[in-house]
Amino acid sequence: MSANKESWGSRLGLILAMAGSAVGLGNFLRFPVQAVQNGGGAFIIPYLVCFLVIGIPLLWIEWAMGRFGGKYGHHSTPFIVDTMGKNRLWKYIGVFGIWTNVAIAAYYCYLESWTLSYMMHSLLGTFKDMEQGGVADFFNNYVNLNTSTLGLPYEPIVFFVLCLLINTYVLSLGLAKGVERVAKIGMPLLIIFGIFLAYKGFTIEAGESGAINDSSVGLNYLWTPNFDELWSPTVWLAAAGQIFFTLAVGMGTIHCYAAYVREKDDIALGAMSAGWMNEFVEVVLGSAILIPISIGYLGIDRVTELVKLGGLGLGFKTLPYLFFQWGDVLGAIAGFMWFGLLFFAGITSSLSMGTPWIGFLQDEFNWKLRSSAWSFGLIVLVLGLPTVFFFNYGVFDEYDYWAGTVSLVIFALFESILFAWVFGMDRGWREITLGADIQVPTIYKYIIKFVTPLLLLWVFLGSLFTPKNNDWAAAFNGSWELDNSSIVRKLLNSGLKEQLASAVSPAEIERLQDTLFYVNASRALLIMVFVGIALLVYIAYKRRIKAGGMYEK
Ligand code: ALA
Repeated sequence: MSANKESWGSRLGLILAMAGSAVGLGNFLRFPVQAVQNGGGAFIIPYLVCFLVIGIPLLWIEWAMGRFGGKYGHHSTPFIVDTMGKNRLWKYIGVFGIWTNVAIAAYYCYLESWTLSYMMHSLLGTFKDMEQGGVADFFNNYVNLNTSTLGLPYEPIVFFVLCLLINTYVLSLGLAKGVERVAKIGMPLLIIFGIFLAYKGFTIEAGESGAINDSSVGLNYLWTPNFDELWSPTVWLAAAGQIFFTLAVGMGTIHCYAAYVREKDDIALGAMSAGWMNEFVEVVLGSAILIPISIGYLGIDRVTELVKLGGLGLGFKTLPYLFFQWGDVLGAIAGFMWFGLLFFAGITSSLSMGTPWIGFLQDEFNWKLRSSAWSFGLIVLVLGLPTVFFFNYGVFDEYDYWAGTVSLVIFALFESILFAWVFGMDRGWREITLGADIQVPTIYKYIIKFVTPLLLLWVFLGSLFTPKNNDWAAAFNGSWELDNSSIVRKLLNSGLKEQLASAVSPAEIERLQDTLFYVNASRALLIMVFVGIALLVYIAYKRRIKAGGMYEK
């Protein structure tokens, strides 16, 4: 039994912390952009279906696994999954549940640190007299580490370190005194900021302060169902990917938080409360700010063009400029609120990414909470610095792709098979419903057993072998050429190599060669971290055997 004596202070605190882990930058930056990139109204139906048949089942599975593992003193996935399946290899699958968190935290905290800096710049009025191009240049300079508006050299690094210090400090206070308190303050604040900005987003009128469209144009664009694209597997894959990221399932975080729930305490209602709270924030607030405001001022065509360049563009390069169309004071306040809400959304998520690593060190190596927390901060700093220095060489995106996208699907697939087929659905169902404060619909017993694993398998295979130009019809008719966005071709760097082959200018060739180098180096680094954690799991396993013969299962 571990000496880890952490626990949640209250049920409300746990639910807010879980919701905080889910509500993150993904709700405000990723969701609206995914929706626009996948045809607006075409996205929302697959998204909601994925929430019901992948998201909710995984929430229940992970809460149940966590509480089950916690009973045996395990607070991170390697030994939680080990307790549930006899095969010794399960614990190495469980490594994903620590590794993913550390790797995501590395780039996520960097992104979170931008919001801190932008909160301050909004208040200082940095963007006040800038044209839109100026705000975009500011961002480009920022990620190129050329910004020193405050007279600080390497300002982004200063903010990154500051952000890590805040995260580490809160983590070192523990669950009840640290994580839970931040969630109790951060969640209501972000909802208040969100409601204010959503109100502004809902009430834009064409002709007022330079707007060219009413709010309804952007909202209709997002919400008018478009059935033409409904059967495109690509849209479904994107919808499933968003569900993973936003609910933080397939990561190992929920297991860890739930491992601190008492043995017979409810998890069924807890999982639903946190999950639905996330959906409210994502679907209602997340779609009411970025897109309606941008479309209100720039129009659909320009926004779809900008969105192709990614969500960060709109959130950081466009909104700070548009806010100042409302006047100097309101512009500064709106900017502060937007980046403030992003910061609180971000920190309640990044804190949750620290807990599996901390729980693991406490459980297995008897580390103190403080040293475990500071070791997390240090690892994230070391792993995060390449995303800071080589942002423009795709390192940030590389981490996001492997740790924040692919690995979630892989781990979710394994855990759903483990839960329903190895641990057994009858035992699994008992775990989910034990102490439940709600009646869990029985249909979910079948969804969890059959539908969820099959869909996850399909999502994984579909991403592994995505056909060229997403032309699934041609692929099913026999000409299955892979797209550069498929996992297989990503792994081979096919897209980059094609660009390199057709590049003519020496500068471009050099840039692409460097990118190829940094992309491969960042993968090597991520693999090293994975192997390092697996090694620690092996050592912990040996220690357990030595300490007490075979350990409790
Ligand atoms: N669930 C977190 C987010 O949406 C990771 O950002």
